[in-house]
Amino acid sequence: MIPKNIFITYNDDAYVRKGELDDIISLQGVVDTADSVKKAIEENGIAPKLVPLKDDPEDFIKMLRHGAPDIIFNLCEGAFGLSSMEMNVAGLYELFGFRYTGSGPLTLGLSLNKETAKNILYARGIPTPKYAVIGDIKSLSSVSISFPLIVKPVHEDAGIGIDNNAVVWDITSLKKRIEYIIDIYKQPALVEEYIDGREFNVSVIGNETPNVLPVSEIDFSELPMDIPKIVGYEAKWITTSPLYKKTVPVCPANISKDIEEKLSCTAIKAYKALGCRDYARIDIRMGNDNMPKVLEVNPNPDISPDAGLARSALAAGFSYSKLICEIINCAVKRYDGTDKKFFKP
Ligand SMILES: Nc1ncnc2c1ncn2[C@@H]1O[C@H](COP(=O)(O)OP(=O)(O)O)[C@@H](O)[C@H]1O
Ligand SMILES: [Mg+2]
Repeated sequence: MIPKNIFITYNDDAYVRKGELDDIISLQGVVDTADSVKKAIEENGIAPKLVPLKDDPEDFIKMLRHGAPDIIFNLCEGAFGLSSMEMNVAGLYELFGFRYTGSGPLTLGLSLNKETAKNILYARGIPTPKYAVIGDIKSLSSVSISFPLIVKPVHEDAGIGIDNNAVVWDITSLKKRIEYIIDIYKQPALVEEYIDGREFNVSVIGNETPNVLPVSEIDFSELPMDIPKIVGYEAKWITTSPLYKKTVPVCPANISKDIEEKLSCTAIKAYKALGCRDYARIDIRMGNDNMPKVLEVNPNPDISPDAGLARSALAAGFSYSKLICEIINCAVKRYDGTDKKFFKP
C-alpha cells in the first residue's frame, strides 16, 4: 500500500535560456514525465498533486508546507535551469523534514559533478575511463591520455554539450572543443579516454539489497562509419533526427551470462559507492579488455515511460504503474526503518 497524500515535484523551466538553443527541450521533458507519474499513481486510486518549481522557491515551499505530503515523488533535476541545484532542492526537503523519493543531496551533488563521481569510483577500484578536468586551456599540457578522447561539460546531464564534435582525434580539435565547453557552458571540460566498445544502461532499484533490472544496450549498427558511436544531445532528445533513430536501445540486451554478471556487479558497486537510494541508472561501456567502464552514475534518472529505467522495468515484467509504486515503496520503507541499511544524505 502506498501513502495517499503524494506530491509530485518537478521543474517548470519554460522561461530558462542556457547553453545552445535546443538545450531547453530536455528541461521541458520533465513536465511530461510529471504527468506520466501522476497517471501511474492515479491507476492505484490515489490523486497526487503536481507541484512545479518555477523561478520562486518560496512559492514552491509554501505549496509543500500547506499540503503536508506523506511523501514527495521528487522529479526536480535542478532549479532555475541549473542542474547543479538538484542537490539544493533535496536539501530543502531535508530542512523542512519532508519525505521524498530517490537520492539525498550529497549523492545528487557528487554524481552530477562527473569529476568527483569519477574520483570516488576510482578510489573504490571501480573502472572508469581515464580522465582530466581542464578549466583553463593553458593547463592542457598536463594531460597525458592518448587519443581518441571525448570532451564533456563536467557538471551537466542529459547529453547536454555532447555532439559529434565531442569526440576528438588531435590536439587542435581538442583545444577547440575545450574552449567551446568553457565558452558556451561556463564550466570546466571533462576530457576522457574514448571507449570504443558496446554501451549499456544498467538500472538498479532498492536499498538494502538493490536489484539490477534487465540490461539495455544501445544499438549503433545503423550509424554511418564516419559518425561517432555516442548518445549525445541530439540522439537523446531530437526525436526527428537521424541520430535519434539510429541509436536504438535494445532491452533486454543480447549478452552472455558472463557479461551480464560483470555489468550487474559493476553497477551495484557504483550505486553503493555514490550512496544511491531507491533507484538509479548506471551508464557503462565495455572496454577492449572486456571489462566494464562506468561512464556515469545517474541517481534519480529519467523516469519517463519511454526512458531506460522504465524500459528495463518492463522487460522485468513491471508495468509503468508498478514501477512508480515500487519506487515509492522503497522510499517509504527507508523512512519507516523497515529497510535498515539505507544511506543518509
Ligand atoms: N569515455 C567515453 N567513451 C565513449 N563514449 C562516451 C564516453 N563518455 C561518454 N560517452 C558517450 O556520450 C554519452 C553521454 O555521456 P555521459 O557521460 O553518459 O553524459 P550524460 O550525463 O550527458 O548522459 C554516453 O551515453 C556515450 O554514448
Ligand atoms: Mg549518460
